[in-house]
Amino acid sequence: MRILFIGDIFGNTGRRVLAECLRTIIEGKKIDVCIGNGENAAGGRGLTSNLFKKLRKYGLDIITGGNHSFSIPDSDIEFMENERVLRPLNFPPGNIGRGATVITIPDGRSIGVINLQGRTFMHEALDCPFRTGKAAIEEMRKSTPIIVVDFHAEATSEKLAFANYVDGTVSAVLGTHTHVQTSDEKVLKGGTAYISDAGMTGPEDSIIGMQRKQVIRRFLMQTPVRFEPAEGGPMLNGVIIEVEDTTGKALSIERIYERVTFHE
Ligand SMILES: [Fe+2]
Ligand SMILES: [Fe+2]
Repeated sequence: MRILFIGDIFGNTGRRVLAECLRTIIEGKKIDVCIGNGENAAGGRGLTSNLFKKLRKYGLDIITGGNHSFSIPDSDIEFMENERVLRPLNFPPGNIGRGATVITIPDGRSIGVINLQGRTFMHEALDCPFRTGKAAIEEMRKSTPIIVVDFHAEATSEKLAFANYVDGTVSAVLGTHTHVQTSDEKVLKGGTAYISDAGMTGPEDSIIGMQRKQVIRRFLMQTPVRFEPAEGGPMLNGVIIEVEDTTGKALSIERIYERVTFHE
C-alpha cells in the first residue's frame, strides 16, 4: 500500500495547494490512501464541517488533528463524530470525537490511523501518549497490520522515543505540529517508517504559517498580538510511505517538499 501523509494544512493557502495539486500527486505517485493533518485548516486554528468536506473532496481520506482540534465553534462540532476525522486520542475521556480509526479502501484493504499528542513543551495536561498509544496499537492490530500514527508534538526526542518504543508494531510514526519539515526520514530496524516532522502545507513566506511582522512583534514586545495567516510562498510538505500489505512493515519513506505556483 502506498500512503501519502500531508503535514499540517495551514489556512487558505494550504487548502488551495491541495485543491490544485493533490489529485495529480495521488495519480502520479500511485497513492492508495491519503492522510493529512488538518488542525490549522481553518485560518490557522481548527477545522470546520465545511472545510472537512472540502478537504475530503480534494482527495484526503483521513484528517488528523492536534492541539488546535478543539479550536472550533461549539455549534460546529458534529463533523468530529465522522470516522474519517481524528483528534489526539490521549485527551481526557468525555471529549467529542475519536483518536483512532480503521477504514477500508475501495480495493478491500484496510488501514488504521492513530492520532496522539506529546506532552513535552505542550500546554495541555494529557494522558501518557506512550501507554495510550501502545494499548490502541495492540487493539488495532487485531483488525489490520497497516497502522499509521500521527504523533503531534513539539519535542523531537519525544517523537523519536515513541517511534522506537513501538517500532515493528506500526507501519509509520509521523511527527506533526512544528510546521518545519525535518530531514531525518528513515525506516527503523523493526520496519516502522519515521520522520520527526512532516512539515507544513501552507504559506512558506511566514513564521510557521502566520504573518511574519506580527510574530516578530510578539517576541520583541512580550505582549499579546493578534496573529493572522500569511499567504505567500505556497508549498506542500509531506511524506510517501510504501508498506508491505501482509506484514504492515514499511519498505520506504520518501519526503516531499514542493513549492507550488498557483494558476489564476
Ligand atoms: Fe499545526
Ligand atoms: Fe499543533
